[in-house]
Amino acid sequence: MPPGAAEAQPQAASGAPARGLPPEAAERVLARLAGLAPSPVLRRRLEGAVPLLAALAPPPADAPLSLLDSPAWAALLDAVTVQETRLFRAASQITALADRLPSLPGAPRLLSAGCATGEEAWTLAVLAAVAGLPAEIVGIDLCRPALAAAAAGRFGTGPPDPMREVPPAYRSCFRPCGDWIEPLAPAPRFRRANLLDLPEDLGLFGAILCRNVLIYLLPQARAEVLRGLVDHLLPGGLLLLGPTDAPGPELPLRPEAGAPGTWRRK
Ligand SMILES: C[S@@+](CC[C@H](N)C(=O)[O-])C[C@H]1O[C@@H](n2cnc3c(N)ncnc32)[C@H](O)[C@@H]1O
Repeated sequence: MPPGAAEAQPQAASGAPARGLPPEAAERVLARLAGLAPSPVLRRRLEGAVPLLAALAPPPADAPLSLLDSPAWAALLDAVTVQETRLFRAASQITALADRLPSLPGAPRLLSAGCATGEEAWTLAVLAAVAGLPAEIVGIDLCRPALAAAAAGRFGTGPPDPMREVPPAYRSCFRPCGDWIEPLAPAPRFRRANLLDLPEDLGLFGAILCRNVLIYLLPQARAEVLRGLVDHLLPGGLLLLGPTDAPGPELPLRPEAGAPGTWRRK
């Protein structure tokens, strides 16, 4: 049976079909429709999401990717995705991007693909503000509570200290406000989207960051996500990936000298 295909409902003791979806069946659906790789963390989170699984029925084998927009599947994704992120995460990669920001193609448009709670997109907003560039920054993710936190544009003072990776040159771009710190930069735009099913109106970007996201995906989904993102990258634009990611040789990308984990679109 292909991953995520409809399968027989589990039988309750009465012989009637039990309500809901078992964790292993939900895992197969999330693999096919969101590309999520089975893992102990995902399985644990699914096993802890009993009431959410109870609201789901096995989808047909050919269910479209848009199934994940339905309230019950969206709620399950909210509960099982992993949102670990930080301001200026991998700061040397970010500062290498800052050096190249003024020469990016097009009016600067920057995408944080898999933005979680927004630290990466707000990092980009601060970079653009310091460079004096009126950039448009977009963050996309599947997790709605993370997107709501991202849009709020403030970060808890910790511990851990949310400023711990912010280089000295950018520290004055954040102001303390009670138990929060707020970036002093125009707000990015955040929207819910599946990286396997990018919105048609997403547009083209001078730089796309997809860091620490592909590690959660199956190999085939990683390749598909990268193909889709490269289609949204302007020629001469930059793609920034996580430390263990590498795009396939079939993609029109070459490594960017002096910028870790960064490729330039040919
Ligand atoms: C660990 S966070 C990475 C955050 C940030 N990019 C960083 O490097 O700090 C991974 C994010 O990818 C999102 N994600 C995973 N699969 C996705 C998919 N198919 N479509 C959209 N977002 C996805 C998760 O919801 C999560 O917020």
